[in-house]
Amino acid sequence: MNKERKLIIAGNWKMNKTVAEALDLVHGLKLELSGVKEVDMVVCPPFTALSEVSKAILDSNIRLGAQNMSEHNVGAYTGEIAAVMLKEFSVRYVILGHSERRQYQKESDALISKKAHAVHAASLKPIICVGETLAEREDNQTEKVLETQARGSLAGLSKEQMAETILAYEPVWAIGTGKTATTAQAQDAHAFLRGLLGKMFDETVARRVRIQYGGSVKASNARELMSQPDVDGALVGGASLEARSFGDIIKNSI
Ligand code: PGA
Repeated sequence: MNKERKLIIAGNWKMNKTVAEALDLVHGLKLELSGVKEVDMVVCPPFTALSEVSKAILDSNIRLGAQNMSEHNVGAYTGEIAAVMLKEFSVRYVILGHSERRQYQKESDALISKKAHAVHAASLKPIICVGETLAEREDNQTEKVLETQARGSLAGLSKEQMAETILAYEPVWAIGTGKTATTAQAQDAHAFLRGLLGKMFDETVARRVRIQYGGSVKASNARELMSQPDVDGALVGGASLEARSFGDIIKNSI
């Protein structure tokens, strides 16, 4: 597929996979995906599997991401994980502001922005998620919600930092529901976000930022979604938990 930006497809394993299961999965992925160069491929295991997965993918084309990170560098923050700890395992990407964390951990745009700054300070790349609920879409609030979340979560980033940031458009109603956004809905939201980046930063930055789509991406819909001009990859939940389905998403996107 001829794309303006290199596709980046990441698997968000969420709270799944023991270390043994995680190793099974990456061994399968290495077989499925050896030789793929056209797409940046990332797996985001739970923290407990980062160490072993990191070793298992050392000699591969798969990169490592984390699902969250503290906004603090060190200290008395029980249960939190700092950037230097992730860097020990060669983590390159950190998912921030996933709708599940916004909902269950009450993460705000202001907190996500602090985390984004900490991620960049550590020379890691954030994958920052935004997306509307079904009620917000039905109430014609989609663009307003995306603008509020993007302006809040990306606040204070420099142009250079923004160019190295990945955005993920994840309509909440499409996550884990089997209900994918139509290609037109996805393209519209992505184009809106890119236009907003142009206003917030500049056109060069807007053209560089990769915007992933997330929400029930599977092998059968990946190609059509990725063929949209402003869709630059995918953040995959359920279908990233098996080597065959994640591998097929990537192969079908090339
Ligand atoms: P899903 O999850 O692919 O299972 O819908 C996507 C996500 O939450 O990132």
